[in-house]
Amino acid sequence: MRRVDACGNENGGVDAPCPALLEFENVSFTYPDGQPGLDKCSLTIREGSRNALIGANGAGKTTLFLHANGLFRPQAGMVRYAAHPIDYSRAGLRRLRGEVGLVFQNPDQQLFSANVREDVSFGPLNLGLDQKTVRERVDAALDAVRMSGFADRLAHTLSFGQKKRVCIAGVLAMRPRLLILDEPMAGLDHAMRKELLSVFDSLYGQGITLLLATHDIDFAFRWADRIHLMAAGRCVAAFDAENLADNAEALEEAALPLPDIIGLRRHLVGTRALDDSRAPRSVPELLDLLMQRSI
Ligand SMILES: Nc1ncnc2c1ncn2[C@@H]1O[C@H](COP(=O)(O)OP(=O)(O)OP(=O)(O)O)[C@@H](O)[C@H]1O
Ligand SMILES: [Mg+2]
Repeated sequence: MRRVDACGNENGGVDAPCPALLEFENVSFTYPDGQPGLDKCSLTIREGSRNALIGANGAGKTTLFLHANGLFRPQAGMVRYAAHPIDYSRAGLRRLRGEVGLVFQNPDQQLFSANVREDVSFGPLNLGLDQKTVRERVDAALDAVRMSGFADRLAHTLSFGQKKRVCIAGVLAMRPRLLILDEPMAGLDHAMRKELLSVFDSLYGQGITLLLATHDIDFAFRWADRIHLMAAGRCVAAFDAENLADNAEALEEAALPLPDIIGLRRHLVGTRALDDSRAPRSVPELLDLLMQRSI
């Protein structure tokens, strides 16, 4: 597949760091009942990259996402999108939400139309697109999440995983520049997780920036370019995924485990079954290395 470039441009230096697309600068937010949501959180998402946001329950991941598309407004600090502070006017938010798609953790929070096709059409219709374009986009989005056969179903009669797929389709149909997904894999079966991963790969191939929250550290390690770690409302660390092992202490403080593959690699290096210079990020990668050694 054609890779545009790491920053989503036709041309440009792949080696140069891509510009920041979304920036949080010392953002703080407390819920009306006094619960702290975000505490001076700073974070940068670069254009064209795959980002995993990790953190224990209650760390602030969802709260951060609600700030990213302007649903919540910081009580202190600032959120910038494409180098500009978010414009919280009605028109500004409309523009922002045309570019920043957010898939909620709980699909029941997102679905509001009776019928699946209507639900997925809502965003593109709101962008002012003509009926034919909307139909094409909705068909493509439903196809991407393997829900084409459900277009005429009533949304509330779908299973949890099916609802989640419709929500993802609704955001895909907007053709966002930044796609944010709150635990997209949770509740999906094995086949759908695989399908969804190939959807992400294809979006990434088109230069779309991806940011997703996950509790699956093994997945974050093998999939992401960059990992952002949250704990108690703070954005405590951000690092390239390949450097995850160097951040073991920060993970432990945030009550998160190291990926299984890191423990396995350590063991294999200890028994000299694997060369110390190799750092596989997935089981297939590790098997490949072991096969190469045994040839
Ligand atoms: N509507 C709300 N009212 C009051 N407090 C809230 C509300 N929503 C979240 N919180 C609190 O804000 C903090 C951050 O919650 P948030 O939902 O952002 O965490 P999270 O990292 O997404 O967790 P999870 O992994 O469970 O989804 C938690 O302490 C939570 O109890
Ligand atoms: Mg959450």
